[in-house]
Amino acid sequence: MSNGLILAIDQGTTNTKALAFDAEGRVVASASVPMPVSYPQPGWAEQSATDIWQSVAQVIAEVVAKVGPDMDALAISNQRETIVVWDSRTGQPIAPAILWQCRRSAPDGAAIRAAGHAELIETRTGLGVDPLFPAAKLAWILDHVSGAREAAATGHLRAGTIDAWLLWNLTGGEHATDHSNASRTQLFNTEALAWDEELGRIFNVPLALLPKVRPSDSAFGTVAAGVSALAAGTPVHAMIGDSHAALFGHGVREPGTVKATYGTGTSLMTLTAARIMSRSGLSSTIAWSTSAGVAYALEGNISVSGQAVAFMGSLLGIADPAAVAALAATVPDSNGVTFVPALVGLGAPYWDPDARGSISGLALGTTPAHLARAAVEAIAFQVTDVFTAMETDLGQPLARLSADGGAARNDMLMQFQADLIDRPVLRGELPEVSAAGAALLAATGLGRNTTRASKAQRQFTPQMSDASRKAALSGWLSGVGRVLQRDQ
Ligand code: G3P
Repeated sequence: MSNGLILAIDQGTTNTKALAFDAEGRVVASASVPMPVSYPQPGWAEQSATDIWQSVAQVIAEVVAKVGPDMDALAISNQRETIVVWDSRTGQPIAPAILWQCRRSAPDGAAIRAAGHAELIETRTGLGVDPLFPAAKLAWILDHVSGAREAAATGHLRAGTIDAWLLWNLTGGEHATDHSNASRTQLFNTEALAWDEELGRIFNVPLALLPKVRPSDSAFGTVAAGVSALAAGTPVHAMIGDSHAALFGHGVREPGTVKATYGTGTSLMTLTAARIMSRSGLSSTIAWSTSAGVAYALEGNISVSGQAVAFMGSLLGIADPAAVAALAATVPDSNGVTFVPALVGLGAPYWDPDARGSISGLALGTTPAHLARAAVEAIAFQVTDVFTAMETDLGQPLARLSADGGAARNDMLMQFQADLIDRPVLRGELPEVSAAGAALLAATGLGRNTTRASKAQRQFTPQMSDASRKAALSGWLSGVGRVLQRDQ
């Protein structure tokens, strides 16, 4: 019998979480485990796909221990653009999951660009050629794991983003993904809503490896007996990329509002009335799909934002990013220090995989607090660059910014953000808005009324003078100009 509970998994880069929501959208139980990332070579980033699945099984078990195994549905929100390839006979991955942040396929992307394919790729997928996207990473695995191309040719391999990998494990063999995750692979034609043969040829990826693509609130399959603590037969009723889930969780259903999820990286997303191509360094993407149709969005991905604070902490010998943020709050400004955290190149709106980070403006008066402050400010500066690019693409000003994610808890950052964009920043009441969005989507799939969504908990109003804003932005843009390797 229905108890109204929906269990949402939020499988992120640095944490795996599970949250059980009741029929009113309240969190009744939750669990979280940290996820280690390995960096085996400069610019590379990977995780054990087995560990990812086991972390999900663990958080499910912890929530089930609190509220029992019966849920009306399971919903999955996941880190996007991370690719897993596994053997369908054993269910074992043939390589570590290659993370969205990994730059190992940069030379392949450069070759594809040099061969003149960039425009076709962008027209069909809405995405510029960049190592962020999984197509070239998938080819890399096939080319570097012994016997992989042969196993692919004989039909024994499966590939997919984290949602598909989790679905396979939860259901004991369903191979599917949703439109939002597919739209981030650079193999999916977002106009035709199908995997694209020509893109498969360009990237040298056999499309037969890829999952079925379905609406985001589909009944994707049911949980198999004995694979997790959940009751067998629990339907998996939503799968959606985490950034898209956050937009849904904010209650955005019409164009006009932009949201920023302040995580390891930051993603800004705004719905568009139709599928539009960016002229300003953003991606055109699928936000989600339901029985009501496909919703399109513009997105700007910032590769390193919250992680910039953690990185600065590691340089300063401070292990806890919260302590770095607290140190940053002890000074009123960065005293002229600019930190451009191009630690894996720069993402939107610059898209320069060869850019390297820099700290500039050091003087004898510089203290660790100024460096910490520069790291926090770098998050807001990068978000401002994308916000401005969105306004350019949309041809009209955006009224406000809705914020969520771990770093959005930082009042100083939120105030500085409002000051830089010169618009109000609304912080949602739910810290876990991606999980809430996925749960809401599953509720939609179950045919429930889903008008409820995260409300603003606090509004930050711009306070900075025009002159100070212009000076701050100009210092930042000079810093960015110094690290770019590619002509803009
Ligand atoms: O595009 C990558 C993004 O989905 C990762 O999200 O929450 O793991 O930083 P997160």
